[in-house]
Amino acid sequence: MTFNIARFVYFGLLSIAVVGCGSDDPEPVPGPGAFAKDFATNASFFTNMTAAKLGSSPHKEVQIWYSTNVNGLIEESTFTVPVGTVSIKTANMDGIAGVDAYAVMVKKPAGYDTANGDWHYEMRMPDGTIMNDPMTNQPMSGPIPMCIECHAAAKAKDYLAGTTLR
Ligand code: HEC
Repeated sequence: MTFNIARFVYFGLLSIAVVGCGSDDPEPVPGPGAFAKDFATNASFFTNMTAAKLGSSPHKEVQIWYSTNVNGLIEESTFTVPVGTVSIKTANMDGIAGVDAYAVMVKKPAGYDTANGDWHYEMRMPDGTIMNDPMTNQPMSGPIPMCIECHAAAKAKDYLAGTTLR
């Protein structure tokens, strides 16, 4: 009898522990995986900024959207986002009203660029097409070293440098 009660208690605690673990560490929800031109009205994206404002990057006046699968997660001081997570930043670099470019980051599956967090970077024109580098005339799309160089400073937040901008 004593033995059976002990066993009952043991399995009882075990299942509480398993359930507890599950709720602490929810399954990551994958993101949309690509730029969407309608991000500002698309339910797959959200912004914490009510308007564009001057950031601290070469993109000057910016507003940042993230895919909704990381809403909440990016408030942590350290985190890693799920595959398919997308961030889109509008940039106004010339000071004249209107968006000059979109800077985009897409989290790729492990192995895409292991040394740098598997991020894909893009610069896009206001019409949504990929921009060409004015120096090399190459499409600005890939694990672009120039982008990585700066974003590596935000490694603890999975290379996202703008999560606290409001
Ligand atoms: C000189 C440093 C620097 C370089 C180079 C740079 N970034 Fe950033 N980036 C930042 C900073 C700082 C932020 C935070 C928001 C701000 O201040 O504009 C940011 C934010 C972003 C965001 C919003 C998501 C986030 O939280 O990080 C995207 C998307 C982005 N950059 C894309 C790019 C792309 C694409 C390139 C290369 C073409 C690039 N960045 C090059 C510094 C840089």
